[in-house]
Amino acid sequence: MVAFAVAWCLAMSVTVIVGAQWGDEGKGKIVDLMGQEVDIVARYQGGANAGHTIVIEGRQHVLHLIPSGIFTPGVRCVIGNGAVIDPAALMDEIRMLDDCGIETRGRLFVSHRAHLIMPYHKLLDKAYDEHRTGPAIGTTGRGIAPAYIDKSNRMGIRIVDLLDRSMLEQKLRANIDQHNAVLRKIYGVDSLNINEIIDQYLSFDHKIDPYITDTSALLIDAIADGKRVLAEGAQGALLDLDHGTYPFVTSSNPVSGGACTGLGIPPTTVDCVWGVVKAYNTRVGNGPFPTELHDEVSELLGREGAEFGTTTGRPRRCGWLDLWALRYSVRLNGISKIALTKLDVLNKLPELKVCVGYRYGGKDLKTFPAETSMLEAPELLYETMSGWNCSLDDVTSFAALPDAARAYIRRIEEFVGARIELVSLGPDRHRTVRVDA
Ligand code: IMP
Repeated sequence: MVAFAVAWCLAMSVTVIVGAQWGDEGKGKIVDLMGQEVDIVARYQGGANAGHTIVIEGRQHVLHLIPSGIFTPGVRCVIGNGAVIDPAALMDEIRMLDDCGIETRGRLFVSHRAHLIMPYHKLLDKAYDEHRTGPAIGTTGRGIAPAYIDKSNRMGIRIVDLLDRSMLEQKLRANIDQHNAVLRKIYGVDSLNINEIIDQYLSFDHKIDPYITDTSALLIDAIADGKRVLAEGAQGALLDLDHGTYPFVTSSNPVSGGACTGLGIPPTTVDCVWGVVKAYNTRVGNGPFPTELHDEVSELLGREGAEFGTTTGRPRRCGWLDLWALRYSVRLNGISKIALTKLDVLNKLPELKVCVGYRYGGKDLKTFPAETSMLEAPELLYETMSGWNCSLDDVTSFAALPDAARAYIRRIEEFVGARIELVSLGPDRHRTVRVDA
């Protein structure tokens, strides 16, 4: 298959890579591919709610926290201050990598400023979602929102606290007391055993210690030294806390701007933003999804695309490619280059639709709406395009794609105003073609 070199696509210092839709765009594979040409891959937000599936030589690996660059020998990986870390999940991943013969010591660096996810965050996550007024968010249940709430409320426990046992115990007792009271009195959930949690978290210090460092300083030094950094966002821009389909969002900032705060690097170091875009749309969890389908097309997309959440196993909702939402995402993130994934999933569809506008109350919308009501029931303007109705298994170059597939790619570029530079035709690293100018 294609011997793939991506050196041409990476800028000199920091390249940011974002999911341009509602997550699950296939970032793991693209980061893995680009990670072969950089010195450092750095994750800037989210936690074990993310799930990256990487297939290398037919073997599937799933990571939730550690960047997929870890599979490339010599690449260093960073989990930045903007992430929230479940130490048990992190240790599980380190163990899994160890079992695969992949060294993490001296290659994985975790920010001392990152916040910890505690057992009470997971209980609170479930309790908040179950007791919301209005529909549940449908979170991943990994404790993400409660951990970020504690961070904003200035009562979070950070990785650096693991290194000071007496301070850790003091902070843990205060937090567990407070959260136990909320869980018991408001949500009727049994209290957590304080001593068990303290013992468990005190035992993490020596396990995690070798990985903890000031990752902001590490990155700034590396950039000054001419090293190439790939900043990896988790989830997707439409799940961004500020710019996504609020309140049906995650609790961090997956947009490209989040890379600077989440890694502690200056904006002036970023010189390119890549967006990863799935050739159709999916969403997992609740919330507006204007182009969602409930018919044989969504069934086909779910089946052919194996659309089940990597973290929760939930079936993903599927629909047509929403170019209107994608254009918003491209502008918001400053995306100039796109990696288009899962084009092969569309192989069996004789006809394709792409959404090119929303109307509401008889008027064309000029921008992507903030109002949930508008997002829930817009009138959609669609364009219909021909499908290609054949397998892409033998395709090894852009020129070898059927005309209809190339027309689909060109229409996306034209509508959103960014170049599609890579097209992924299957889960394996090598099922990827470069798009000629
Ligand atoms: P949370 O991030 O667990 O709080 O979940 C908030 C929303 O984001 C829910 O709709 C989740 O399904 C969604 N979400 C969180 N992480 C991911 C992801 O990695 N891919 C897709 N959706 C996600």
